[in-house]
Amino acid sequence: MLRSGNEQKRSGILTVIFYIGALTSCACGKEQPDMADKAQVGVAYYNQSDTFLNQLIECLKEQFEQYANDDFEIALTVRDAAGSQRTQDDQVEELLDAGCDVLCVNLVDRADPSEIIDLARAHDVPIIFFNREPVAEDMMQWDKLYYVGADAKQSGVMQGELAADFIRGSKNADRNKDGKIQYVVLEGEAGHQDAIIRTEYAVATLKKKGIVLEKLSCGIANWNRAQAQNRMMQMISRHRNKIELVLANNDDMALGALDAYKKLNVTEAVLPIFFGIDGTDMGLKAVADHQLAATVYNNKEDQAAVMAELAAALIFETGMQDIPFTNGKYIYMPYFKITDENVDAFYSEE
Ligand code: BGC
Repeated sequence: MLRSGNEQKRSGILTVIFYIGALTSCACGKEQPDMADKAQVGVAYYNQSDTFLNQLIECLKEQFEQYANDDFEIALTVRDAAGSQRTQDDQVEELLDAGCDVLCVNLVDRADPSEIIDLARAHDVPIIFFNREPVAEDMMQWDKLYYVGADAKQSGVMQGELAADFIRGSKNADRNKDGKIQYVVLEGEAGHQDAIIRTEYAVATLKKKGIVLEKLSCGIANWNRAQAQNRMMQMISRHRNKIELVLANNDDMALGALDAYKKLNVTEAVLPIFFGIDGTDMGLKAVADHQLAATVYNNKEDQAAVMAELAAALIFETGMQDIPFTNGKYIYMPYFKITDENVDAFYSEE
């Protein structure tokens, strides 16, 4: 359970809502039958089997719940596309036909948002894309398109720094004492903005910090724990005890790699060191238990808070100037590092 929050931002949102609430309930002592007492937000996401996305959607629900008061309601409708862009296009059409005021879309195929953009534009409903970033040209298709996520490069650099610090501070990281760290990479989906960039910068940062690396293998495991376990089993059977470091593009894949070693009953002494990204509940627990050496926190609470703030600003047509945009359309929430030294501040067993 994460204990940190974004109280300041939250109170900003509440101010807007209570202000609107006061306006609608006081006007001439009459009931106001206008649209301002209810708003509908449609949320479409790529796949409910994704651990990080599920936790992000929970945060989003909590953020929107904060808007409820006696005078105002925001209804959130969430749709899972189960990995099909066509399904997601249909779901978005249904959400628009049902009268949603703002759409939050986590694309299945980040290179294929045109149908959704055309539908939203025809209904004049703004879209907040999140987590799976459309390409820049698509973001230019209409002025009511926004993106909320995080900077992939920052997470890669942080993972590289964490790994370099750990290796420098450990006598056993270079187990075969050859002066090099033999490593493997578990990558997320091909074509996802976070996958390639995280790997590239994690490796480049390790090298920049003076760690000599030898790459043994790289496998795509689509962010998925079971797939990562399979990939890792193959890598272990090929490289045996040679692997000293596992860099995974997310926590689920780092945990999948660990599962492979557990399944093979490998002794502690020949375990590599594992690094993830996300700080999911399971990822944080694994850092607390010293199973993952460290992770990089993908700040879902703040991403959800700023999405709710932006949605409110779009619905009420006020407060856009307070949103921390980059280039007028993008909002990137910073990552931060989690090690066994600070994990207790973010994770508790309850
Ligand atoms: C997260 C992954 C997640 C992916 C889904 C990434 O930012 O780190 O855990 O599976 O987004 O799009």
